[in-house]
Amino acid sequence: MDGTDRTSGEAEAGAATVWGGREYERIRAFLDSEQRATPYLVTDPAIAADRFRRIGDAFPGARVYYAVKANPERAVLEELADLGASFDVASPAEVRACLAAGAPASALCYGSTIKKPADIGFAHELGVRLFAFDSPGELDKIARNAPGASVFCRLLVDNAGAQWPLGRKFGCSPETAVEILDEGRRRGLRPVGVSFHVGSQQLDPCSWDRGIQLAAQTFRASARRGLRLELLNLGGGFPARYTAPVPPIEHYADRVHDSLRRHFGGRVPALMLEPGRSVTAEAGVIRSQVVLVTHRAHGDGRRWVYLDIGRFGGLAETEGEAIRYPLVTGHDGRPAGPVVIAGPTCDSADVLYDTAGYRLPLSLADGDHVDILSAGAYTATYASSGFNGFPPLRTYTLERPVAPHASTPRQRYAAP
Ligand SMILES: Cc1ncc(COP(=O)(O)O)c(C=O)c1O
Repeated sequence: MDGTDRTSGEAEAGAATVWGGREYERIRAFLDSEQRATPYLVTDPAIAADRFRRIGDAFPGARVYYAVKANPERAVLEELADLGASFDVASPAEVRACLAAGAPASALCYGSTIKKPADIGFAHELGVRLFAFDSPGELDKIARNAPGASVFCRLLVDNAGAQWPLGRKFGCSPETAVEILDEGRRRGLRPVGVSFHVGSQQLDPCSWDRGIQLAAQTFRASARRGLRLELLNLGGGFPARYTAPVPPIEHYADRVHDSLRRHFGGRVPALMLEPGRSVTAEAGVIRSQVVLVTHRAHGDGRRWVYLDIGRFGGLAETEGEAIRYPLVTGHDGRPAGPVVIAGPTCDSADVLYDTAGYRLPLSLADGDHVDILSAGAYTATYASSGFNGFPPLRTYTLERPVAPHASTPRQRYAAP
C-alpha cells in the first residue's frame, strides 16, 4: 500500500469545489493573466464586502468593527468604509490607514489592551474616542493621554474550541472589571461596557455563552455601584472556511442571541463585533511555487514538498499545524500521495504540515504553482522583513467592483 489515490483527500476536494465557483472568477483571472514573481497574495475586496454584509445581516443592529490587523490592504478598507463599517485598530499605522481609506475617526475603536502612551495620545488627537483596557496600568495611560474617552474593559474567557486561541494574555475577571471601570469614572473617563474574545477561528458557536454570562454579571455588579454600562463587545472569532467546513454565521448569531436573552433578559445592551478573519480570509489567495520535491534519508517514504513561502513568509498560523489552508495545484485529480510540506528557509521550524495528513499529486514538480486558498487574513502582515534574504510577501488587490452596493445606506450596519 503506497498511500496513492486519485484525489488529494476529501477536504481538498471540497476546497476545489469552492474554488471552482463563480465567486473566485476574478482572482482566477488575475492568477492566469500574467506571470508574476511568486509568492504573492491577491485579495478581492468584493469577497470581503460580501462576508462583511453577511455578518451585518446576521447581527442586525450590531455595530461591526472590522479588525484591521487581519488584512489592512487599502482597497479592502475603502470597500468596507463605503459599506459603513467601523474599524478595530491596534496601532497608529492602522489608525492612519483607516482615516486614509475614508473612515471617520468616530468609527474607530482602539481595541488593543496594550498600548504605548504616545500611541493613545496620537489616536486621541486624531479623534478616536473609544479605547479598550483590562488593567489599572492601561487605564491610567488612557486617562492621561485620552481624557474623557469612552472605555470598555476586556474580560478573560476560555478559548476552548478555537483553532487559533488568544490564550490568557488578555482580559480580567468580572470583579476586577467592575473595580477598574469605576476607577475610570473617577478619572474622568466614560466607562461604557465590556468585551471578550473567544479565540480566533472558533468552531463552537456556543462559545460566546460564557462570555455573555460574565458580561451580564459585570453589568449587574456595576449597576449596583451606579455605573450604567450600555455596550457589549462580542469580539471576533467567527471562522473562515479552510480545509474543513465551518458552521454558517447565522448559526453563530442564533446561539449568541439565545445567550443574550438568557443572561440579559429583556435588557440586551448595544452590541459591537470585531470580526477579522471571517471578513478577509476567504477573500485572498496566495500563489506560491514548488522549489523542490524530494525524499529524506530518515523519512517514512513521504515526499517532502518545499514551497517558496513558509512559516516566515506569511504562513505563521501553520504553527502547530493550527490553520490548515486548502491547496490547489494544476495536477489536482491525478494520483496523489502523502507529503510533508515545508518552507524555503534554513530554519527547522519552517515546516508547514507534517502530521495534518496533506496529500499532493505525485506529478507535482519543481516550478509548479501551488495556490493557497483562504489566505486573505493574517498572512502578509505576519511575513518577516527579510529572513534568509527573502522579501516580505508581495500583495495585490483587485480593483473594487463597480459599486454593487451603491444604494446601501452608509450607516446600515451602525448601531441604532
Ligand atoms: C481585540 C481583537 N479584536 C478582534 C480580533 C479579530 O479576531 P478574528 O480575526 O478571530 O475575528 C482580534 C484578533 O486577534 C483581536 O485581538
